[in-house]
Amino acid sequence: DTTTPHAPLSRIPSDILCAQDYEALAAHFLPATHHAYIAGGSGFEATLRANREAFERVQILPRLLRDVTTGHTRLTLLGQSLHHPILLAPLAFQALAHPRGELDSARAAEATDTCLVASTLSSWPLEDIAREGCVEKWFQLYFQPMRDSTLDLVQRAEAAGYRALVVTLDAAVQRPSLRAQRAGFRMPDTVRPGNLIHHATPPPVELERGQSRIFQGLMREAPTWDDLDWLMRHTRLPVIVKGVLRADDALALKAAGVAGIIVSNHGGRALDGVPASLDALPAVRAAVGADYPVLLDSGVRAGSDVFKALVLGADAVLVGRLQVFALAVAGALGVAHMLKLLREELELCMALAGCATLPEITADCVTHRHA
Ligand code: FNR
Repeated sequence: DTTTPHAPLSRIPSDILCAQDYEALAAHFLPATHHAYIAGGSGFEATLRANREAFERVQILPRLLRDVTTGHTRLTLLGQSLHHPILLAPLAFQALAHPRGELDSARAAEATDTCLVASTLSSWPLEDIAREGCVEKWFQLYFQPMRDSTLDLVQRAEAAGYRALVVTLDAAVQRPSLRAQRAGFRMPDTVRPGNLIHHATPPPVELERGQSRIFQGLMREAPTWDDLDWLMRHTRLPVIVKGVLRADDALALKAAGVAGIIVSNHGGRALDGVPASLDALPAVRAAVGADYPVLLDSGVRAGSDVFKALVLGADAVLVGRLQVFALAVAGALGVAHMLKLLREELELCMALAGCATLPEITADCVTHRHA
């Protein structure tokens, strides 16, 4: 496809009626290569598909005759008061979708009282993102090959006012999906990791004969339990781990002093063949108990999806691709509009299901459709 993509709009397009509409429209606002990079999942995209199928299998059972006129979506998470349980997931290189990238996402978060999670691999430096004024903001940390670099990121995030560290552990190896490679995606020279520009790059790994390109090569700098422990001793911020799918890992992380976890498969972009986040959620919640912070992402496209995730054990959700799709269509305005739609969809779903507040969203609010 060689059609020239539309430039971002400075108005809300009239054909957007629900948050998910940004997904289809974004294809007209992104070069085909960038679209493939953003939309694609790893491997055969089995997990990417599973994320959506899991939401579609869950059906809502509304309660009748409830008074919801005092309803609201407020919650407390890690001691922070949030207006609603929808956060912006960390997404790398948002300049692919819009020249202002993360700056516009932050502006939208600020305008809609949304907690933003800024990526280590943002195209703008974390300080510039913080200056957009968003109060609730967390920093997503990828361990760097050298501890000095990791510590530098941590200290900069603390100084810039980020209130938590989200450590992503499911993506030790990152490469564009087959879909992106087949579309001919290459990271443009103009899109750079704004936080890492001054970081020294370690010398390339020299493999000896018989050594594996994967185990001794790509995985050599992947973090382990020791690194997580080191991190928690070097920050005053609460540490949240993103990428949890197993109940035993969740329990071990809780025991290690991690402040909360995000059940996630990276939107189907990490290991292909893992379960949908929504399917992994109930066992994780059961393992860590009712009061431990558990968030979910991967596949959230509508307010009813947020509702379903909350029923199955999440305290809040993060939205990934919808954020960059809305950004591509209409910058900060698009992201703010998408968030407003998503929040209203959740409120409508709660109201019609007879739930006035988030704690009223309980396990009996859904049933599972059997395939
Ligand atoms: C991501 N994700 C991600 N996660 C992370 O911890 N750090 C990052 O830098 C990125 N970058 C990134 C780029 C792009 C283009 C995508 C699509 C995703 C994963 C992201 O935070 C989240 O887990 C998923 O996007 C959630 O799935 P949905 O909402 O996209 O279905």
